Amino acid sequence: MLFQLSEEHLMIQQAARDFAQQELLPGVIERDEHQKFPAEQIKRLGELGFMGMMVSPQYGGSGLDTISYVLAMEEISKVDASASVVMSVNNSLVCWGLETFGNEEQKQKYLVRLAKGEIIGGFCLSEPEAGSDATSQRTTAIDMGDHYLLNGTKNWITNGSSASVFLVMAQTDVAKGHKGINCLIVEKDMPGFTVGPKENKLGIRGSDTHSLMFQDVKVPKENRIGEDGFGFKFAMKTLTGGRIGIAAQALGIASGAYELALKYSKERKAFGTEISNHQAIQFKLADMATEIEAARLLCLKAAWQKDNKVDYNQSSSMAKLFSSEVAMKTTVEAVQIHGGYGFVKEFHVERLMRDAKITQIYEGTSEVQRIVIARSVLQ
Ligand code: CAA
Repeated sequence: MLFQLSEEHLMIQQAARDFAQQELLPGVIERDEHQKFPAEQIKRLGELGFMGMMVSPQYGGSGLDTISYVLAMEEISKVDASASVVMSVNNSLVCWGLETFGNEEQKQKYLVRLAKGEIIGGFCLSEPEAGSDATSQRTTAIDMGDHYLLNGTKNWITNGSSASVFLVMAQTDVAKGHKGINCLIVEKDMPGFTVGPKENKLGIRGSDTHSLMFQDVKVPKENRIGEDGFGFKFAMKTLTGGRIGIAAQALGIASGAYELALKYSKERKAFGTEISNHQAIQFKLADMATEIEAARLLCLKAAWQKDNKVDYNQSSSMAKLFSSEVAMKTTVEAVQIHGGYGFVKEFHVERLMRDAKITQIYEGTSEVQRIVIARSVLQ
């Protein structure tokens, strides 16, 4: 077993770190405060190859492995989790789903531009009454011969107003349950498609989260991904990889907060010495460093398994469950180490604490991850 990153991995990590520090850090507080989508920064991420990292160069991607993706997600998320969720949804859910299960025509028409970052994608599974219980889809895609007629509402859609292309799960045959669900590629300009108001969120405020409404949207048959009824399996398989991306996002939020707390503890003086000399702070830093390292190893293991075609269903859920809990705990402690300064925006840790919470909720709550892990260990 080799616990060592390759030269290429280190270069990608450094490139992502430089981008985050130079281009994301300036303005991140303002974007969070005003809920401003990082449009320019996402465009740059596309130019640098971070929006289609794992897509083959044949389809406009960077042809990198999942380990590279985890490393980049950690660095970007240390600074701006709003930008990293846009990147994560585009990479893991939309691009990966299209490249793995789409046909050649779909890849040429949509994947190439998505992988280059020329357009952004969205993934639509959740509904007002179907969150964790994802099989209970109410959105319908009625088979009309040469097209599907799409009706319904999707909730909590990342990139809701900035995406041009959406992968939408909808029920075609209710009697067949989850086997009657299809995934359709929907373009934002299709008549009958409306974007609802932007959600005013606790964290990741720079990302645009919306409800989407579909009223008699005609989606051509050729926009269905896979065989009739493959939609639920498509969503589950795609989310399994997506969870590695969100685990890496949580890892980045945790390590970003830890690095800030470590630095602050060496500068701030109390009781005649830097606070890092007090055991109360040292114990916190030791716990943070240990838990972050454990989270990183889980993320890299899941990524390695995905790259090496080893079943990663259990490991991706373990990585997401553990990393998101570490993100929550670490950011709370980072605020505590900063004292009053931690409670104001200029010191960044309060934002990281707010951003951490969503990692325990989206792409499957911590409870959903426990269901997946429990089923795996009990089988
Ligand atoms: N890979 C492949 N197939 C899978 C799978 C996986 N990981 N998980 C389940 N399946 C298959 C099962 O094998 C089963 O198929 P068969 O009937 O042919 O055997 C089918 O899917 C149904 O599976 P279950 O019976 O296990 O389904 P369930 O109703 O018990 O639900 C669940 C399981 C794990 C709770 C699932 O519903 C789930 O993951 N829910 C959470 C959904 C979620 O993550 N939503 C996030 C929204 S997207 C988002 O947040 C994106 C964003 O914008 C940031």
